[in-house]
Amino acid sequence: RIKEFRNMVAHLSDVPISDVEKEQSIAQASPYRQTYHIESESGTLGDPNGFSYFNGKYHLFYQWSPMAFSKAPHYTQHGWKHLISDDLVNWQDLGAAIESDTKYDKYGTYSGSAIPVHDKLLMFYTGNTWINTETDNNWLRVPYQLTAFMDKNNQVHRSNSPIIEGTFDGYTAHFRDPKVWQKDSQYYAILGVQRKNLTGTALILQSDDFEKWHSLGELKTNYEELGYMWECPDYFEIDDKGMLIFCPQGLKSSGSQYQNIYQTCYLLGDQVSLPQTDFKHESLNELDNGFDLYASQTMLAPDGRRIIISWMGLPETAYPTEKYHYSGCMTIPKELHIKNGELYQIPIKEMNSLRKNCHSLNERLENETVDLKLKKMSNEFDLTVKFNDSNALMLDLFADALDQRRFRVILNKKKNEIMIDRSQSGVEVATEYGVTRKIDYKLSEKLNLKIYTDCSSIEIFINNGEKVFTSRIFPNEDQIHMFLHSICGTTNIDGSIYEMK
Ligand code: FRU
Repeated sequence: RIKEFRNMVAHLSDVPISDVEKEQSIAQASPYRQTYHIESESGTLGDPNGFSYFNGKYHLFYQWSPMAFSKAPHYTQHGWKHLISDDLVNWQDLGAAIESDTKYDKYGTYSGSAIPVHDKLLMFYTGNTWINTETDNNWLRVPYQLTAFMDKNNQVHRSNSPIIEGTFDGYTAHFRDPKVWQKDSQYYAILGVQRKNLTGTALILQSDDFEKWHSLGELKTNYEELGYMWECPDYFEIDDKGMLIFCPQGLKSSGSQYQNIYQTCYLLGDQVSLPQTDFKHESLNELDNGFDLYASQTMLAPDGRRIIISWMGLPETAYPTEKYHYSGCMTIPKELHIKNGELYQIPIKEMNSLRKNCHSLNERLENETVDLKLKKMSNEFDLTVKFNDSNALMLDLFADALDQRRFRVILNKKKNEIMIDRSQSGVEVATEYGVTRKIDYKLSEKLNLKIYTDCSSIEIFINNGEKVFTSRIFPNEDQIHMFLHSICGTTNIDGSIYEMK
């Protein structure tokens, strides 16, 4: 890859417009284009960055490389794409916000965050560089932690000098992804880093002016050795609790846990008493139980909601959309809550504004199968499922007329297990990491299920967001049906299906 950097240009505006348009038209021809999820118009979409509310609008940036799949010889590096919104569901594209055009970020304006302070949006992010010792072909990564601010005209002004050059003693060059917050007139940032002994951890920085920063040391968790690198850490306080969401890389899969190439995990505990960095927390959990979710970022909405958005994709994973010169999309935004010490993730209420026609669904199934002929895979399902006996319900979504190809959701009351099966769902993705995901989950008589399907994705919320399964699906054109199978007993289904705008 590094050799390709020699052909790189810093700004998309330096690429001939016809080459850019060509990429976009290839992407537009994809059968997998989503209808209500954020996607890149060409190239890669990765981590959400700078998710914030500023100047009367929601702002979302993301890791973006619009010419990543171009055959033309101008390879643009990761920069930040900028979107704005009034309601978190209808987004306006403002193009590139930060491109990789300084000596501190030549090989990528990597992930970071933003917080509004008075009339500025303060941004903190990582610049990635490689020192060119081309003669012995030994490329050395050198990261820089950088700041900038965006004014009310959405112009980004970058600081002249880095906050941190390179890395600290005891850490490798995997040192990135600052997430910033403000508390009691102090600024804090948490960074994902790798220790010299190749274990991952997170560092906390403090500043009282956003210019001079000093380290408070590592966030002290119970996990001394948890993977080899922590990417995209996000620490915040919610309902009197402290919460860390992060991506520890290198966890070994065990049982049904940690099946994806990389995971997004969380630790829920007491609030950290900064400048002390001790974090008293419960055990590690996965944020999502599906196939495709990474690099989540949260923000505080003006009404106090803690809202999370994630990349619906994984690093180092080839997706069928790449044939159409783009990859990645965002999840829908979700609201986070803690109830009885448990995390709940709920689709934001603004999603309801995307509803069109409503079809009600009332089915009583006795050991049988029902075909709900749905026209288009862009639906919200809001269902209550009632089990009469110890039975199982299988929901086949994205199914063909014979139900041979489908994405299957199995609610097994007998085994107290929820499983999703992507094996027959269309073009395969990352099958080396398995084709099913499952969790042990106590299924009582009554279950509430909310599902969002778009052209090539599914997001499943169990019991008001107590568990979430997020996955990409790449179906064939004829996979427009949905079947319900009740096995060994009676199942009642009651609810609504909304078509989505
Ligand atoms: C996570 C990540 C971050 C990095 C960014 C680069 O997906 O690897 O650690 O900042 O992507 O695009």
